[in-house]
Amino acid sequence: MTTRVAFKFLKEHVLHKIKPGVAASRQFSAHFSSVPPLPPARSKIPQFSKKGRILTGATLSLLIGGGAYASTVDEATFCGWLFNATKIVNPFFAFLDPEVAHRLAVSAAARGWVPREKRPDPSILGLEVWGRRFSNPLGLAAGFDKNAEAVEGLLAVGFGFVEVGSVTPVPQEGNPKPRIFRLRNEGAIINRCGFNSEGIVAVAKRLGAQHGKRKLDETSTSSSQSSGGVTHGGKAGPGILGVNLGKNKTSEDADADYVQGVHTLSQYADYLVINVSSPNTPGLRQLQGRKQLKDLVKKVQAARNEMQWGEEGPPPLLVKIAPDLSKQDLEDIAAVALALHLDGLIISNTTISRPDPVREDPLAKESGGLSGKPLFDLSTSILKETYLLTKGKIPLIGCGGISSGEDAYKKIRAGATLVQLYTAFAYGGPALIPRIKAELASCLERDGFKSIHEAVGADCR
Ligand SMILES: Cc1cc2nc3c(=O)[nH]c(=O)nc-3n(C[C@H](O)[C@H](O)[C@H](O)COP(=O)(O)O)c2cc1C
Repeated sequence: MTTRVAFKFLKEHVLHKIKPGVAASRQFSAHFSSVPPLPPARSKIPQFSKKGRILTGATLSLLIGGGAYASTVDEATFCGWLFNATKIVNPFFAFLDPEVAHRLAVSAAARGWVPREKRPDPSILGLEVWGRRFSNPLGLAAGFDKNAEAVEGLLAVGFGFVEVGSVTPVPQEGNPKPRIFRLRNEGAIINRCGFNSEGIVAVAKRLGAQHGKRKLDETSTSSSQSSGGVTHGGKAGPGILGVNLGKNKTSEDADADYVQGVHTLSQYADYLVINVSSPNTPGLRQLQGRKQLKDLVKKVQAARNEMQWGEEGPPPLLVKIAPDLSKQDLEDIAAVALALHLDGLIISNTTISRPDPVREDPLAKESGGLSGKPLFDLSTSILKETYLLTKGKIPLIGCGGISSGEDAYKKIRAGATLVQLYTAFAYGGPALIPRIKAELASCLERDGFKSIHEAVGADCR
């Protein structure tokens, strides 16, 4: 059984992806079997140098040896190894320009060149939000997969949900490069991307194609089922897909931009996000003001509700807010959220502040939003305040500086029902995801909680 699993994996994930290996394997057999190789003039196979032959032989020996050794372990252990193996490539990514490294990571995930989580999530992490079943509360925050290129691969890594975007109505380049800066010592990033986006049409086409393919698969496997009014999985298969909407830099009518996003993309989304908190689009954060936010949410809700929806109804609507808000700002946002029955808030986006120890870093002077570890305290205190202001009536997604299960747990205790991360994933890669989930499960069990829901807001009571 385990032998079959290991060789099936090698066949599916490794061997078929290295097509030149077909030629190489012929070369291998030509040199290492008793059959003499064809004379060079008649052979269509290119002749390799001695060094090439040794390399080819060594690679194949490693693959065969590795496969044979792997065949002695069970699937869960094998899966754990694969995740750990990704740590080997992390240092190479660190040498690359941050945007190039990011591009490579998205392309790899889009091609499925990432480990697939085959182990079931700890049952204590499963929860139900908006009538949907999440296998775990850990999501990938917006900005990583801006154009929805790698949803399937990213969900396969083990996230409970993935949020794509921010997507703008019309394609735009974003700010000039360089616009992403790594503050490695602080586990932080400063970015001023400015909504680089392929636009709603390109993203709709991509999501539409993925959606169609999944529907076909589902008819044969029925992977998304409904029971007791709760849908298992979402529009992206077993995981949940959020679509985060932005506005174009030069657009004069922000509300119309978000409405356009809703019309084009909401059919593919399990939830929608109005992002009014990026610090890199001039004037955007002003949309968080009481009157502006109220008008915007009303228009977007109306646009969503007037569309035709099946049994499941329209996707929930969330607003993503900044961590740089005064008490009064937060009170206004909470009042709007409660009055308009908003389905959720994401707290938070990046900060324009430079908390210690970031201030000492030469890169701290770069303009843009700061994310990662130094954002944790600020975003968690805003989360807690919002939970209190909304009296625990609205699901909150806690985001900002999560890099461990303990961090995720603190967000949940501060009032988050779901959590998201970005920066720690950019540094830690796929191996971080199973680690955070296992740590979070241990934290819950250690403190006697039987579910995530029980722990939500524990620090606010
Ligand atoms: C390079 C980069 C690009 C981002 N782009 C977006 C975006 O397009 N839309 C958005 O809502 N948030 C965006 N974010 C913010 C993240 O979604 C998240 O809110 C923030 O980074 C805090 O989480 P973290 O500390 O785990 O990274 C971006 C963050 C980074 C680092």
